[in-house]
Amino acid sequence: MTERSTLPVAVLASGRGSNLQALIRARDAGLPIDLRLVASDRAEAPALRHAEAAGIATLALDPAGYATRRDYDLELFRRVAESGAKLLVLAGFMRILDADAVNPWRGRMINVHPSLLPKYRGLHTHRRALEAGDAEHGASVHFVSPELDGGPVIAQARIDVRPDDTETTLAERLLPLEHRLLPAAVALIASGRLHLGERGIVFDDVPLTSPLRLEDACLKPA
Ligand code: GRF
Repeated sequence: MTERSTLPVAVLASGRGSNLQALIRARDAGLPIDLRLVASDRAEAPALRHAEAAGIATLALDPAGYATRRDYDLELFRRVAESGAKLLVLAGFMRILDADAVNPWRGRMINVHPSLLPKYRGLHTHRRALEAGDAEHGASVHFVSPELDGGPVIAQARIDVRPDDTETTLAERLLPLEHRLLPAAVALIASGRLHLGERGIVFDDVPLTSPLRLEDACLKPA
């Protein structure tokens, strides 16, 4: 890979940071991204420790220091832009974002969410899938829009729901798939094969009519 084809990426994470770790591993294995910054709203987030251990610049920005959500988000996103990131990955960033911060990043910000969107936006997705009696559950990577978990879906990973599943077992089976799904989606964006156009997602020059599916470590049309 030449330096020129490497995509500068920033990651926002509030907690554990296992998806961040998956991105770091993928980068180390050749995914052409330059992890410029990992930022968090929580100074104690393990994600920040993972970043430090990998030699990635970190930022802990406490929302308590800002009068409004909008003020905080604009400052956070200013710092992200300052890092030189061209793609912003939300990996367990547990805050609702102000539209004025999100809109300039249209097509340049993605999120990983543990449900088959548009099902179960927001929290407690595993519980809600169980309560609904769903036969299938999954995870999605989507472009971020001002609507919570509402932007165009790039790709999904699916699992069958078993009769004895609990929230814990669903989360345990899904998480390793998230760890393949997110780097695979980033890879398509980094390579220029996938982007958000005026009318929706374009994949290999063709409008994407339904989310790509994760099969092994590859994303394939549904
Ligand atoms: C993941 O389940 C992700 O889908 C959701 O938050 C969780 C973050 O986990 N948005 P981690 O911090 O990446 O381990």
